[in-house]
Amino acid sequence: MALRTLDSLGSLAGKRVVVRCDLNVPLRDGVITDDGRVRASLPTLNALINQGARLVVCSHLGRPDGEPNPEYSLEPVAQRLSELLGSPVAFARDTVGESAQEAVAALEDGGVAVIENLRFNPGETSKDAGERTEFAEQLATLGDALVSDGFGVVHRKQASVYELAEILPSAAGLLIATELDVLDRLTEKPERPYTVVLGGSKVSDKLGVISHLLPRVDRLLVGGGMLFTFLAAAGHKVGASLLEVDQLDIVKGYIDEARERGVELVLPTDVVVAASFSADADHVVTAADAIEETPFGASGLGLDIGPDTAAAFAEAIRGSRTVFWNGPMGVFELAPFAAGTKAVAQALTEVDGLSVVGGGDSAAAVRQLGFTDDQFGHISTGGGASLEFLEGKKLPGLEVLGWS
Ligand code: 3PG
Repeated sequence: MALRTLDSLGSLAGKRVVVRCDLNVPLRDGVITDDGRVRASLPTLNALINQGARLVVCSHLGRPDGEPNPEYSLEPVAQRLSELLGSPVAFARDTVGESAQEAVAALEDGGVAVIENLRFNPGETSKDAGERTEFAEQLATLGDALVSDGFGVVHRKQASVYELAEILPSAAGLLIATELDVLDRLTEKPERPYTVVLGGSKVSDKLGVISHLLPRVDRLLVGGGMLFTFLAAAGHKVGASLLEVDQLDIVKGYIDEARERGVELVLPTDVVVAASFSADADHVVTAADAIEETPFGASGLGLDIGPDTAAAFAEAIRGSRTVFWNGPMGVFELAPFAAGTKAVAQALTEVDGLSVVGGGDSAAAVRQLGFTDDQFGHISTGGGASLEFLEGKKLPGLEVLGWS
């Protein structure tokens, strides 16, 4: 079945439209450090504004555990949205209470209100379908239709993502449609060579995607904190680097499977090892099989891929026609350990074909390192969502919109 798109809702002029976005942006001291998800929501919001709809924008931010918590307020996001839209945006101090009802009642055609963080209400993330439905029914009083456009959250069976889409006439927004178009190109006959670059801290987060992708890709490049579990599985000592001992057997199985399938599994040949986890820590480059032979001995911490590895990864990426990248190669937030991530990002900008950056961390990394969105084929707003899509999982927030 095909995804229900905006036109399936007919004219929305004068109608109250709840727009479920993923505006879960990183904040430091109340300031947005990467507004990529707010920007990504604009095409749908502008399309609805231009139709004269009355927009009730909602989202989660962080994981406030079902209670109001000012640290996770969407107010700075509403302000940023207003700047980007170039028009006023009302902000409701609650989600379905008096403030929200008033803000919605005051909307004019083409007007926008943001309601407070959905996850301030226990019903949003409840495991109990009845509790989620009860909250979704309250949300449904705010609108005549739902446009679901929070791609980053479609893998969650939560009230505003799933139950609300069953209660109100609902359709996917333009962001979800775009994301699916691109991710489909990664799964349906990708142009070859097809390379996947995986990083980030935990291999346990990536198990599903590795096992699903191994039969489908030509090359798998492994960096980030998870590389140390691969190095350990290949028989090397990794000092005090991040290591998931309980994943060793599974990872050994992947190494064998890659060999049997003829997939190039490229592991780092050198790494940057530091005395401690800080920007001013002493650090050296060492061979990947000699991590404990640096001056820091067994307490050395691997915090980035080394320059030879970065060059080899970059060459493999540039020589591919399709590349998907999820997860930084090192602790890019600390300048001495950002080079690997930067080299991979640079190589993606030079791909003659489709390059996709997936995941909040990788998206934040490329922007923080000075790249711009238009240098890549696509920057996905979904971290977990894009990985689960590539794992071939059924995603509740898409199924409820007709996708199968
Ligand atoms: C994300 O950041 O991946 C999405 O916003 C989903 O957030 P969650 O992992 O807290 O559900």
